[in-house]
Amino acid sequence: MSQIFEPNRDFSREARIKNMCEFKELSLQAEENFEGYWDKMAKEKIDWFEPYDTVLDESNRPFYKWFIGGKLNVTHQCLGRHLDRRKNKAAIIWEGEDGKKRIITYLQLYYRVNRLANLMKNKFDIKKGDRVILYMPMIPEAAFAMLACAKIGAIHSIVFGGFSADALRDRIIDASAKLIITADGAFRRGKPYMLKPAVDEALKEGCECCKKVLIVQRNFEDIDYTPGRDYVYNEIIMNESQHCDPEPMDSEDPLFLLYTSGSTGKPKGVMHSSAGYILWAQYTMEHVFDVKENDTFWCTADVGWITGHTYIIYGPLAMGATTIMYEGTPTFPDTGRWWKMIEEHRVNQFYTAPTAIRLLHKLGKNEPKKYDLSSLKVLGTVGEPINPDAWMWYYNEIGRKNCSIVDTWWQTETGGHMISPLPGATPIKPGSATFPLPGIMAEIIDENGNQTPKGEKGFLCITKPWPSMIRNIWGDSDRYVKSYFGDCKKDGKSVYFSGDGAMYDDDGYIVITGRTDDVINVSGHRLGTAEIESVLAHHFNVAEVAVVGCPDPIKGEGVFAYIVIKGEDSIGEEIEMIQELNALIKKEIGNIAKLDVVLFVPGLPKTRSGKIMRRILRSIAKGEEITQDTSTLEDPLIVDKIQNLVNC
Ligand code: PRX
Repeated sequence: MSQIFEPNRDFSREARIKNMCEFKELSLQAEENFEGYWDKMAKEKIDWFEPYDTVLDESNRPFYKWFIGGKLNVTHQCLGRHLDRRKNKAAIIWEGEDGKKRIITYLQLYYRVNRLANLMKNKFDIKKGDRVILYMPMIPEAAFAMLACAKIGAIHSIVFGGFSADALRDRIIDASAKLIITADGAFRRGKPYMLKPAVDEALKEGCECCKKVLIVQRNFEDIDYTPGRDYVYNEIIMNESQHCDPEPMDSEDPLFLLYTSGSTGKPKGVMHSSAGYILWAQYTMEHVFDVKENDTFWCTADVGWITGHTYIIYGPLAMGATTIMYEGTPTFPDTGRWWKMIEEHRVNQFYTAPTAIRLLHKLGKNEPKKYDLSSLKVLGTVGEPINPDAWMWYYNEIGRKNCSIVDTWWQTETGGHMISPLPGATPIKPGSATFPLPGIMAEIIDENGNQTPKGEKGFLCITKPWPSMIRNIWGDSDRYVKSYFGDCKKDGKSVYFSGDGAMYDDDGYIVITGRTDDVINVSGHRLGTAEIESVLAHHFNVAEVAVVGCPDPIKGEGVFAYIVIKGEDSIGEEIEMIQELNALIKKEIGNIAKLDVVLFVPGLPKTRSGKIMRRILRSIAKGEEITQDTSTLEDPLIVDKIQNLVNC
């Protein structure tokens, strides 16, 4: 494997974990006294209302419970406890795409959250345990809404603004949400776009649970209002008091739900707890980003994804840091926008996705040179494997060879980082997330539960529970057990399987090789191929469909659909059909799942029992040689026929 880069010495000297000896010592402490380690962390980091009596309850595996008996409120951890020392410090620096800025101090944020918490309680009758859907653009009110829910014990579930009305509806119904908080719209690439019409559309059918909609005015475009159901935040928020007592929450009370894709058609509502999650947000901010008191932290994700939850909102605020929130795209008005913002705000830790790095590398290779990026200390990447070219550009041009790159591997289900370099300690390599964090027992194992030898691919598993792990799938405990604890065993015991493949390189560094299930990763967004297939199958001329991932130089993976047409009707009308298929995708999922390649094929490779050999389709989409035995297929010639179509 490639070159190794040592951490910057000046940085290491000041870092929490300064070298590999300290890192190994910490990992050893966690191994030798697992519960003792987490007990110490939880006591040190969380400001408890009431202490817990049990660190970890494993009696009902895999429904693990942490810090039982403890009471806390996550907003006290993120806001209340900072007021003595940091009330006038910037909590959120927001920048609109149009350049407009808002600076919200800890005290202001505290008051705003309280007002909204009171509004939810008084006007909308939201109580502890009720679900509230947030369908929001990247504006500070999204943060107010998340924290206001947490303050009163309501469970927020954010639906990414790029999802369609149909996808929003599915999530409202699944969560049985009582309230939606949304905005009229926002700005993207210099133009206003709308969100509220999708809410209106979603609520037309089957959403009897949801009686109220609260709308934040952001772009002031004309929208429809339904009297008695819709309320304008800007008009009523100031009627509420800025004081609100936090709801004392049990450690295990859910903090939020976040829907993510799995290998079957229906998205799953990943449930996270209060104490374990916030402990993790803080623990990883300290260890992986090494955030200090006066640091300004910028994570470019959208709040609609787990990265936005943990590293725009909960993590930075739990640390009492300043978090940057940006409304728009990285290329507006030009490809220097992010670098300009880093210079202006003197950003210290910058966290983004490989897809954005690749895009900015391609479109504005020399753009970073125009800016002073010397404030940067740590650069992060997440969401998908980062190719060495992009890694090197990030390291040389953005970090100016002074910053460690933390390639963080984790998932919606893990709540926060699991495998990552520690910036002051770990020698880094392009393409490797390096080692599990202290306290994380991650292992790459084969189908017999044995650790794989160096250079051999295996299944990436976590063999012991961790505080911020998924607690359940909303309304579907069976699916929780089957999805995560069904496939891998270690010493005869089921262990958490991430769905990812990985291997140890020659130096024992972990290299993530990608998903092993039917999930694809497009621009760092997780999409279930079954979910896309079930949408495409609704087209009246689709007889059969199979969707796989294909390589894409910017997005990492693209969506590749094999379509078998019904009858002869659509032959010669393929272009129209592709447009119709994409319109269906846009309607039922959203543009993030748009088809990159559509191949009309005479049939799909199936076994005699009718099972589609998806591995063959994946290899064809990747342009790989077919190594699988095709002689057992129902029609062995079909593979050649498909390959010929690809070649022409
Ligand atoms: O396949 C892995 C990939 O993203 C998946 C998790 O996606 P999601 O739940 O949407 O969360 C994304 C943000 C945490 C993983 O199963 N992934 C995440 N980080 C990395 C990665 N693949 C390679 N390297 C990473 N650093």
